Amino acid sequence: MTKDDILRLLTISKSAFVSGEKLALKLNITRAAVWKHIKALEQEGYEIEAVPSKGYRLMSIPDAINLRDIEAAVKTKMIGRKVHLLAEVESTNSAAVEMAAAGAPEGTIVAAEVQTGGKGRLGRTWISPKGNLYLSVILRPKIAPNKAPLVTLMGAVAVVSAIRKQTEVHAQIKWPNDIFSGERKIGGLLTEMRAEPDQVRHIVLGIGLNVNMNAASLPPAVASLATTLSAETGSPVNRTGLLVEIASELDRWYQTFLKNDAEILRAWEAMNMTIGRQVTVSSANETIQGTAEAIDHDGRLVIRTIDGALQAVAAGDVTLVKRGTDTETL
Ligand code: BTN
Repeated sequence: MTKDDILRLLTISKSAFVSGEKLALKLNITRAAVWKHIKALEQEGYEIEAVPSKGYRLMSIPDAINLRDIEAAVKTKMIGRKVHLLAEVESTNSAAVEMAAAGAPEGTIVAAEVQTGGKGRLGRTWISPKGNLYLSVILRPKIAPNKAPLVTLMGAVAVVSAIRKQTEVHAQIKWPNDIFSGERKIGGLLTEMRAEPDQVRHIVLGIGLNVNMNAASLPPAVASLATTLSAETGSPVNRTGLLVEIASELDRWYQTFLKNDAEILRAWEAMNMTIGRQVTVSSANETIQGTAEAIDHDGRLVIRTIDGALQAVAAGDVTLVKRGTDTETL
């Protein structure tokens, strides 16, 4: 869609002007067509400054996620064919778990502008003010429960792909499913599953991404470890476009996962920032130190401990030892 292409080019150029001529050339359209699309974007609430000798620059974006635009833009086979967009909910994961139990179709997305009880990993709270993305996707893969962690890795691969496509942020994955920009967290995934002993009934894949919120509004202890996509890019990020891209990448990577889960492991490895680093992994009953060597075929982190033994961990909190001397929890 050319209008979205214009928006992407204006977003990438941050606060600099992009000339009408350059936009027209890049998109192979006339300057009059560029102007028409700029006017359409303004109708949707985008504030665009136009200066005759300089061109256009994006000043601000409409604040709300736009369901109509999502429905028009989603071209997926399965993920996001049905999107429920809520102004406020306790947790999109809890809402999606209820919908899944009531028979909602695979691929259904539940998204919200605000969560009042957002859930993070290991029983933590996910602070969820306005301006970010909070979404949960219902999946019904025909797999054994022990393969479910791979669905979370698949989700992380899809989210990182979407961020890299939609913004200039070189997002990476910290095992198992944290999304980072540089050394700061920009998002995370939380998977909830209902299963029989030998077969998954449904998985809810929850995604939280810090997009446009004011990071200064976070508690100081969190703020020093976290960042937002807009802080990284220097300009606001179009949340509707990002949500559509996430749906599209999830659709693609989920089909890949169902055909050949080894491909997910390869993609995850290429996008991760954990393998090769000195780590400390803490879980409820143990702490392991060593070098992160690989992930195994079940998505567990394989650590070479100080005494040379290999140990695989399925869950826990990872501390990456900073290159150099200090230790820092990322
Ligand atoms: C983490 O601890 O890193 C995982 C955070 C996952 C947060 C998302 S926000 C959307 C979905 N709903 C929730 O309650 N949690 C997940």
